[in-house]
Amino acid sequence: MVEHFPEGEKLVLIAANWKMYKTTVEARAFCAAFTPPPGVDVVLAPPYTALHGVLEAGITVYAQSVHWEDEGAFTGEISAPMLLELGVQGALVGHSERRQYFGETDETVALRAAHALESGLGVIACVGELEAEREQGATEDVLRRQLSVLERHDDLVVAYEPVWAIGTGKTATPDQAQEAHAFIKSLLDVPVLYGGSVKPENAGEILSLPGVDGALVGGASLEAGSFSAICEAASRLAS
Ligand code: 13P
Repeated sequence: MVEHFPEGEKLVLIAANWKMYKTTVEARAFCAAFTPPPGVDVVLAPPYTALHGVLEAGITVYAQSVHWEDEGAFTGEISAPMLLELGVQGALVGHSERRQYFGETDETVALRAAHALESGLGVIACVGELEAEREQGATEDVLRRQLSVLERHDDLVVAYEPVWAIGTGKTATPDQAQEAHAFIKSLLDVPVLYGGSVKPENAGEILSLPGVDGALVGGASLEAGSFSAICEAASRLAS
């Protein structure tokens, strides 16, 4: 879990979701070229096979998902004790790609999050609306539904990732992001990260918005240079 949220200080948590990118050799090369700047909590979420490669570098590591049982006949899944044994400190749950391509539902997200937190892992739970849902004015309904299965916990962070902004180069406008973050916080009093095409060029503006406690970064986290630039922008805001 991340050591964060010191009283009275602005939390800035920058998490990298590497999705299905990077072998162990590539992960080690990234870590050799990356030093987290002061004042920022940095989390890397590599694929399972590269977890140990990143752990060796002494960086906080989260898995990209975690199952709700400690063991069992669940082919392709990974459990909290397996992650904890490696030194992994947390897990993402409910990423929109898991929901879209792998049948993740609000119910499975709830089970994963609750068990991970009970087991002592930190959790970054991802929520966000589809483009059609935003166009229909259903953003708040979707967020309310997705958040209704989560309970406040000191080690729970929510990532607001509008699905239409993921990997598309589109980002939520400052007003859209601020509004969504405020709405999420009104339902669940936890830190909220923004995700969706965060890049060195827009990180400063996004991270300085009220209610934005950090970022969950996909594409721009794959290269040490661009991820460092985002972390530096966060560090300037934290100091
Ligand atoms: P991009 O930063 O590539 O848009 O991805 C965001 C994301 O899905 C992080 O979890």
